[in-house]
This record gives sequence, structure tokens and C-alpha cells, in this order.
Amino acid sequence: MSNLPGTTLIRGGTVVTADGESRADVLVSGETIAAIGANLDVPAGARVIDAGGALVIPGGIDPHTHMELPFMGTVASEDFFTGTSAAAAGGTTLSLDFVIPGNTQRPLEAYKEWRGWAEKAACDYSFHVAITSWSDQVRDDMRTLATEHGVNSFKHFMAYKNAIMADDEILIHSFRTARELGALCTVHAENGELVFALQQEIYDRGITGPEGHPLSRPPEVEGEAANRAIRIAEVLGVPLYVVHTSCEDALQAVTRARLEGQQVFAEVLIQHLVIDDSVYRHSDWDQAAGHVMSPPFRSKEHQAALWRGLQAGMLQTTATDHCCFGREQKRAGLTDFRKIPNGTSGIEDRMAVLWHHGVRTGRLTPSEFVAVTSTNAAKIFNLHGRKGCIAVGADADLVVWDPNRTRTISAKTHHQNIDFNIYEGMEVVGGPAVTLSRGMVVWENGELKTVRGRGRYIHRPCNAPFWQAQRIRNSNQNPTGVQR
Ligand code: URP
Ligand code: ZN
Ligand code: ZN
Repeated sequence: MSNLPGTTLIRGGTVVTADGESRADVLVSGETIAAIGANLDVPAGARVIDAGGALVIPGGIDPHTHMELPFMGTVASEDFFTGTSAAAAGGTTLSLDFVIPGNTQRPLEAYKEWRGWAEKAACDYSFHVAITSWSDQVRDDMRTLATEHGVNSFKHFMAYKNAIMADDEILIHSFRTARELGALCTVHAENGELVFALQQEIYDRGITGPEGHPLSRPPEVEGEAANRAIRIAEVLGVPLYVVHTSCEDALQAVTRARLEGQQVFAEVLIQHLVIDDSVYRHSDWDQAAGHVMSPPFRSKEHQAALWRGLQAGMLQTTATDHCCFGREQKRAGLTDFRKIPNGTSGIEDRMAVLWHHGVRTGRLTPSEFVAVTSTNAAKIFNLHGRKGCIAVGADADLVVWDPNRTRTISAKTHHQNIDFNIYEGMEVVGGPAVTLSRGMVVWENGELKTVRGRGRYIHRPCNAPFWQAQRIRNSNQNPTGVQR
């Protein structure tokens, strides 16, 4: 039977959304959801997928990926086709990737380049655009991107000095412009000056291996930058999204701001929840280097804080920062940890690892799982109603989620284009039996059915109603308009 979109009835499942659960069938017509209800009739010619009592959930949204990213002298090995295919195998149907302009490159030019690379994507994607320098031209490009190209989020790397780092001056210019456009600012929060100084100091002390990486990026470095970005956003009155919150220090800054009524959203990476910093002490250099990413893995105390932050709603989204560098690529830093390309993979494993460690342990309900794997990202990045939900008229990005599906994660069997998996040997219970991307079955019975180039670029308008609602609430509390 063809797997192209036609009419499909998903029968006999429990529909789980961020709002609750109910026994219901889901009828898909073409690329969208046509009906949801008990005992729906099978239309003539429809394909029937028997959910067999499993769950039916929205396709996952990974709000933080880096397919084929040129970075640290190399290029991430996962491209938009292999990456979005691996995503489908894990139940993720939309990835928000990052356009990062190269040295002297204009944001608009970089965006066009990334659009070209992404044409091979198998599932849908959208772009945040990084602001790495400032000029009138950059300001104009932000406007063009926001008004003509559906970019409603701009990224600021507060680390990676002498490469893509945005200093405070850039943050201020860009945050102001984002406010005028009704766009969302996002930050990689690490104090880049401090990281640079600590790296030098640690290297000079003779620590050249991967164990030097976490030493140069302690939690305080992240906490300081998160707090600084939050306060700049507060003063300028712009919503902020903190990517890959990895430690209690940054979480506290986010929590405090949210408790004060500021529009601050934050993301956690699955790997920061389940892997601790002992990986950097591995006797095998390749193993330790395979875990070099920024911010680095933290101690178990920080992990526990992150779980609490996720449960309490202080962290709203879960991502992967999927950025693949294989063993050979990592070896560029064999004699100097500063040269190990930063990044780890996981787009295929995000949902299953979170289900296993989050839902099966009782930390999250199935509805909370849906909220943090898709719905909240759809709300924050202004896709709600189209993505991250099961509703009539929404895109038919759906997953039949089998809570009993068992898999032992391994680089030997995964679909990601990398010879390393940070979850190697981890057994996870719960996973996608069937994945549909805009009505097309892309993963079924352990088999990928993705089609190169079928993924579509998704426009995201500015002024998300979700932020506006918060802004109105805040201004009611404090008519001066300062978000406190
Ligand atoms: O180590 C990481 N996270 N690499 C990708 C770039 C970034 O900082 O997000
Ligand atoms: Zn980052
Ligand atoms: Zn990243």
C-alpha cells in the first residue's frame, strides 16, 4: 500500500494531548486531520492503522537542532535528509534548526544558503537565525527575515569568543530590534569571555584532554550569562527563550524571572537530564570526547534540579541540540580539548529517552510528556493550532506511541549519521510504532519510509498570541510597562 497522504484512519488508540486523554479515532485526509471521535466510520478507500490500544500523540517538535552545521573547522555529519529521517524514526516530525552566518556573512544570505541545504529534508523544518554581529544591514535583514520569511526567533551565542559570540552591545541592538518586530530572542547562555580565559588557564596547567572541557565551563559561567540575558530582556521589554539550560544556576535565574512575571521561557536537553559529568573522566579518549558539548554535562545534583524544573513548568521544552561530529572529527582536538568540535546527537532518541526516564518513572504524566515534547514548543514558536496538537485542521503530524516498545539504543542500529551514540547500551521502553508527517507514513514496523525533499519550510509569524497573553498579564500587574 502506498504511504503517500490519502485518507487514513487511525483506529483504536488513546489520543493524548497536552490537555488530557481520551479514547478516539483520528481521521486524516490528505495532509491534515479531518475528524477526531469515537468509532469513526472507515471512508471508502481509506487506509486503516490499528493503534491496538496504544497512544496517539502529536508528532514531536525538536526546537534545537544543527543539521550540516559548519562549526569549529568541520561540518556536522548529519544532513537535513538523514537528520529529519532519524527524527521520524524517533517520533519527531518538526525540527527548528539554526541559521548561523559565517564570518562577515549577512543573516539574510546565510538564511538563503540554509534554505538551499534544507531542501532535501524529509520532514518539516523551520529556522531560528543567529545574530553574530551588528550593523544597519543586520537590522534590515532581521526585519526582512521577520516580515517576509517567517522567522520569529533570533539566536544569540553568548559564548564562542572569536567566532560567533554576541557581546552585550550586539544583544542590546538585536533585542531592541526584535521587540520592534514582535520577535523572540533566544540565547546560548555562557559567559564567553570567562570560558575563553578559563580554557587558556586550564590548558596552560597541562590539562589538554576532554576533562578540561567541563572545567572551563562551570555552572556559574552559565548562571551569570542566563541572568544577564534575562535582565537585558527585562529592561528592553522583550520575551526571551534560554536554550539548553543545563544547571541549577541558570534554572534559578529563569525561575526567579518567571516568578516575577517576566516572559522567559527555557529549554532543557534530554542528555542533560540523564547523563552526568563522569563521562569526561572516561579512560578512552574517544568516549570522553564524544560527549564534548556546550554547556557540558553536569553533576547529578544539577540533573535532579533540571528534572524538578521540568516538572514544575519552569522548563517548558525538551530538545537535543542535535549536532553530530563523529570520532574522526572529534580527534581534531586530540592534543587540545579546545579544538574538539562541540556537539552531541540524539534527535532519534529524545522522545523514547524522555518517556522511559520521565513517564515510566512517574515524573511526568503522558499529557505533560506531550506538552514538553511538542505543544509548548508550538506555542512558544507560534505554530499552535497547526503543529504540536491533535485538532481538526491541524497538520497530520501524528505518532502511534507504543508504551511497551523496547529498544536498546546503539550507534550500530540507529538511523543518525554518526558513529557514536551518547546513550549507547541504554534500554528504553516506549517508542513510536508509526509516525506520520503531514499525513504520510514515514516510519512503520521499524522501517523508515521518508522521502527526500518532502519536508517543507514552516513560516512562523511574529507576535505569537502566547507571548502577547503574557505581556497583557504583565502590563495589568504593572502599568509602567517594565516587566517586573
Ligand atoms: O556543543 C554544542 N551545543 N554545539 C552546538 C552549538 C551550540 O552551542 O548550540
Ligand atoms: Zn548552544
Ligand atoms: Zn545548539
